[in-house]
Amino acid sequence: MALDKMDKIVSLAKRRGFIFQSSEIYGGIGGFWDYGHLGVELKKNVERFWWHHVVKLRKDVVGIDASIVMHPRVWEASGHVEEFHDVMVDCKKCKRRFRRDHVQGEKCPECGGELGEPKKFNLMLRTNVGAMEDSSSVAFLRPETAQAIFADFETVRGSARLKVPFGIAQVGTSFRNEITPRFFTFRSREFEQMEMEYFVHPSDADKWYEYWVNARHQWYIDLGVKPERLRLRPHEKEELAHYAKACTDVEYEFPFGWQELEGIANRTDFDLRRHEEYSGKDLKYFDEATKEKYIPWVIETSAGLTRSVLTVLCDAYDEDVAPTAETEEGKRDEEERVVLRFNPKIAPIQVAVFPLSKKLAEPAQKVEADLRRYFATFYDDAGSIGRRYRRMDEAGTPYCITFDFDSLEDHKVTVRDRDAMTQDRIGFDALRPYLEERLLF
Ligand code: GAP
Repeated sequence: MALDKMDKIVSLAKRRGFIFQSSEIYGGIGGFWDYGHLGVELKKNVERFWWHHVVKLRKDVVGIDASIVMHPRVWEASGHVEEFHDVMVDCKKCKRRFRRDHVQGEKCPECGGELGEPKKFNLMLRTNVGAMEDSSSVAFLRPETAQAIFADFETVRGSARLKVPFGIAQVGTSFRNEITPRFFTFRSREFEQMEMEYFVHPSDADKWYEYWVNARHQWYIDLGVKPERLRLRPHEKEELAHYAKACTDVEYEFPFGWQELEGIANRTDFDLRRHEEYSGKDLKYFDEATKEKYIPWVIETSAGLTRSVLTVLCDAYDEDVAPTAETEEGKRDEEERVVLRFNPKIAPIQVAVFPLSKKLAEPAQKVEADLRRYFATFYDDAGSIGRRYRRMDEAGTPYCITFDFDSLEDHKVTVRDRDAMTQDRIGFDALRPYLEERLLF
């Protein structure tokens, strides 16, 4: 049942222009995805929602936008060259490759063949920079956005005149040569992260860790994700990353099971200390008030943007039975519909405007044009009103406005609510405040 639901989500995502395979006309490429006309808007809105809460509303956090390729020494200092690997096994018969921890037993899960010896496999994607293609030109496509924040720490702190505690945030693309990309976009080889490193006095680290675990959990609820499908899972000592003293994952119950959305970690002074060591630059912080000089500790909040988009899609997907639009004789039937119940604030189309008849196209287009400056709008005059509603339900549009013949007289339109299925009659002048109250964040 659950996987059947996942198939429906994947198929809807392609059909309606949310997400589909990269280079599909060539058969696709595993672990790479494209966002269509609705998907790109949804992704930008989730990113904007994160930036709004983590950077814009806070006095103590600033953002950066760093390059994807960095000096190769960064990845030696961070521990990625040495530590960032999965253990894989190859099937001797069908030659398929698996992550060791994804295989139960000693046989190939695909063909039952004999498995070879486990080998370490570094997940960083490599490239060459400049004209030479030798070992001196090897560089990596970043596997996380976090390291640029540590490498730029002193420059950003100085230019923004930041005082501990403070955070530096970044959203951007990361690459990992995952052995088994799977579950649609859940584990991709190219994906986007939303990370924030919060620098604190070592004695305050536990307090800020607790604070950020709770704040990040709440963010998903504010995003509109159902609280009963979210949980916090503290890591056991054995599963902690090499840099972490403590880590808690925010997990979501996908149709394919409970999975990680974000990790909140106490990274101690590991990163700044290592970059100090490898770069030879002083990365200590001087506290003017106490005259203390120290390397700040870091509380990291590391979320996946593309994974959050998948979460929102899965969480919003619903099927129900809804009344059809009224016929000319004033009758209503019932029909099944697929509806994406996005939080209206992040919906790719927020307001659709329909003329009841093509004769009303001109005034209806004017209503849409007036709203377009403030909201994500869409105009549709094709097919029956009922069909137009269904198309908008599938796109997750929270409000549909119908301009009818009465509108010419009373200067009011009907606003239909996707979830409550109410139909409010609203005056032209009151439309903008009505929608602002529901759509702005
Ligand atoms: N800076 C710490 C770090 O990168 P991580 O747990 O490896 O930690 C953080 O990754 C988040 O990035 C994950 O919780 C997930 O949301 C996202 N992420 C990691 N690998 C991913 C992949 N292959 N595909 C999609 N998202 C991924």
